[in-house]
Amino acid sequence: MNIKSLIDLNQLSQEDMKEIIELAGKIMKNPHNYTDYCHGKIMATLFYEPSTRTQMSFQTAMLRLGGKIIGFDNPQNSSVSKGENLKDTIRVISGYSDIIVMRNSFEGSAYAASLYSRCPVINAGDGGHLHPTQTLTDLVTLSFEKGRLSSLTVGLCGDIKNGRTVHSLIKYLSQFKDNKFVLISTPELQAPQYIKDILNASGCEYKLVDTLDEAIGELDVLYMTRIQRERFANAEDYEKQKGIYVLDREKLRKAKADMKILHPLPRVDEITIDVDDDSRAKYFEQAEYGMYARMALIIKMLESPDRSVPSKVESTHKAHCNNPKCITSTEKYLPDLFKESGDMLVCKYCDDRLLV
Ligand code: NCD
Repeated sequence: MNIKSLIDLNQLSQEDMKEIIELAGKIMKNPHNYTDYCHGKIMATLFYEPSTRTQMSFQTAMLRLGGKIIGFDNPQNSSVSKGENLKDTIRVISGYSDIIVMRNSFEGSAYAASLYSRCPVINAGDGGHLHPTQTLTDLVTLSFEKGRLSSLTVGLCGDIKNGRTVHSLIKYLSQFKDNKFVLISTPELQAPQYIKDILNASGCEYKLVDTLDEAIGELDVLYMTRIQRERFANAEDYEKQKGIYVLDREKLRKAKADMKILHPLPRVDEITIDVDDDSRAKYFEQAEYGMYARMALIIKMLESPDRSVPSKVESTHKAHCNNPKCITSTEKYLPDLFKESGDMLVCKYCDDRLLV
């Protein structure tokens, strides 16, 4: 594995992934062999948005590897509240630490941070965009619970539009042979265009459906998600969407006996509590796999030979991303960076498209 920062899981090849999953398995079996691995290393966890699992599993992972942690989970207690920009915060903290884990509500924020960081940055969620380490968690879970990452029919249910975990999971799993996707949501919460483009380009079969009942019987994996209230423009729109998809014991009667139920958590009301006792429910195990997955990732990232220091990045085009949720809409000094795709420009921070 040779990457400096992890912004998008698709930076990792399938071979890299196999190595991480194998290492996670070895750590699970013999955690005591790894207790000094990160002795003398410091991880900074910068959480501009709420988190329980991602933040704590990263922190626990580093502590279990013998490293130390610094950081904040309430930016109001840091100089961010005095108006400090992301670039300055990252420039300074990357001088204090060996690896930065960051969550921020703006799309593309982790990529922006990586442009100025002297140490590796891990994206722990950038708005509704991506969440690579949740997907790593999901892949480790599937490897151990299903025994494979290919030939799976995966149903993703709930907020497909705003769920960053869903975007990262589709992006990575669509590379594997014979995977099929069933996207279960209301028309309002269907996948963003760039995810549909990825699915179309991958050649994977996929369909959009609006009830769990019509899909559940064919699934090998059901990935439930909560409706992402914080990403809605107003309370009224959220109220219209909440509570539509609820997995309960009755619905599970139609599911295969070896289907696995995953959920990145937190759960709100989309899985009834009595489902927790069903042997197909794997979401609590999934959270634990996440800690081992992150231990393996930290080891691999600190071993990675890419130690490049940031150099000045110039804008690639005379254009500006229109997405109000893109980090470039608030951090105005950021260069305008785009990839060309036909008659479109694709923002390198948030993947939003701009017609030229
Ligand atoms: C997810 C997230 O933050 O995107 N949670 C997590 O990291 N385990 C899912 C969510 O908040 O719904």
